[in-house]
Amino acid sequence: MSTPNALISSLPQHVGSPVTVRGWVTHLRSSGKIAFIVLRDGTGILQCVLVKNQLPAEVWAGFAELTQESCVAVTGEVRAEARAPGGHEMGVTGLELLGASPVDYPIQPKEHGVDFLLDQRHLWLRAPRQVAILRIRHEIEQAIHDFFYEREFVHVDTPILTAAIGERSGLFSTEYFDQGNAYLAQTGQLYGEAAAAALGRIYTFGPTFRAEKSKTRRHLTEFWMIEPEMAFYDTHDNMRLQEDLVSHIVRRVLDRRPSELAELERDVSMLEKVVAPFPRIDYGDAVITLQGKGSAIQWGDDLGAEDESLLVADYHSPIFICNYPKEAKAFYMKENPDDPRTVLCNDCLAPEGYGEIIGGSQREDDHDKLLQRIHEEKLPVDAYGWYLDQRKYGTFVHSGFGIGLERTVAWICGTPHIRECIPFPRMMHRLYP
Ligand code: 4AD
Ligand code: MG
Repeated sequence: MSTPNALISSLPQHVGSPVTVRGWVTHLRSSGKIAFIVLRDGTGILQCVLVKNQLPAEVWAGFAELTQESCVAVTGEVRAEARAPGGHEMGVTGLELLGASPVDYPIQPKEHGVDFLLDQRHLWLRAPRQVAILRIRHEIEQAIHDFFYEREFVHVDTPILTAAIGERSGLFSTEYFDQGNAYLAQTGQLYGEAAAAALGRIYTFGPTFRAEKSKTRRHLTEFWMIEPEMAFYDTHDNMRLQEDLVSHIVRRVLDRRPSELAELERDVSMLEKVVAPFPRIDYGDAVITLQGKGSAIQWGDDLGAEDESLLVADYHSPIFICNYPKEAKAFYMKENPDDPRTVLCNDCLAPEGYGEIIGGSQREDDHDKLLQRIHEEKLPVDAYGWYLDQRKYGTFVHSGFGIGLERTVAWICGTPHIRECIPFPRMMHRLYP
């Protein structure tokens, strides 16, 4: 009896015994007497060997029917074979076609343009590189959940349809019954702050939306963000949590996803250098350094992508840029008591030119100062009444940050463009598939 339906990842346990494996054909090769099927089932790849004079005629004939991406069940004995992709090989005794695939499969083993591949994203996902990225994305998601669970943070789900707003960039809006417009959430932070007053330490984990007309390799219109919010954390506690989280994520992927990193040809020696603590650079010092390197930045400007690359070039680990000018950042950040032109905040920039992966800050906990900032930014005060209540009823020192999932995945995978780091990217010119 063969073991029904073994996963390729479980084959080391089945060496020497017959099994059936179901999956999709990725490669076919035949010399006329001996034939090979390379099979993919999502957990690994398996080389299947068919020897003509050892097989019933109908099994050998079945091989001729196969095409790339046919879905099949193969049965046979598994043996360890170091030279085979995946390290195992099956001596096939039975072959069943489960789902034929016409010969016009759009993705062929040749160079395709990225626009073409994005149009075929639903099929492109099957490619080994894409599978590796999505497995690393999953590992990062699970590492984040585990990190917070172990520290007794509570996972809080915040709304996607909102009336109030959060960040400065564009909003997607939709009609909402008789309530006027609803906006797709740009951040869960403001709700996270309310939840922190209920639960102490929380994090959100969900999709966020920005109608930014940016066509850069770092911007999606729909991206996933994880936003912790901690009662009684000041800006220094906040940065310590960020560096612990980032180094935890990197360590976890190095330990558990070595074969995916190898598939991506990632230089892991760069990731090995990501160890807390990370350097902290004051915004004012960063501006002087950048001017010394030829940047046109002036005190007061936000850092552009090129500025970020110039700064990280001197470091192997991520760095923090701290305490930006008020006008460069969001209204809710706490004024810096040592220099009221600035706010208590930080960005975390990934090394190797991957840029900002985290934005965080201590929050303004003074009711009147926050109200004044809302007025200064000409935000609709009524919409923020509930947000001001956190400062009215038992205000508390608190801080939090948002880490962008796709940018983190792109950096760890060494993928220049974040569109490959989410299964179905949404960008300014892309809503399909
Ligand atoms: O710096 P941002 O805008 O900060 C916030 O949204 C705060 N509410 C976070 C907080 O304090 N709770 O965004 C945080 C991170 C960025 O550092 C970046 O990694 C990612 O979210 N991000 C994007 N990722 C992909 N596409 C975009 N358009 C992104 N905008 C921000
Ligand atoms: Mg930011």
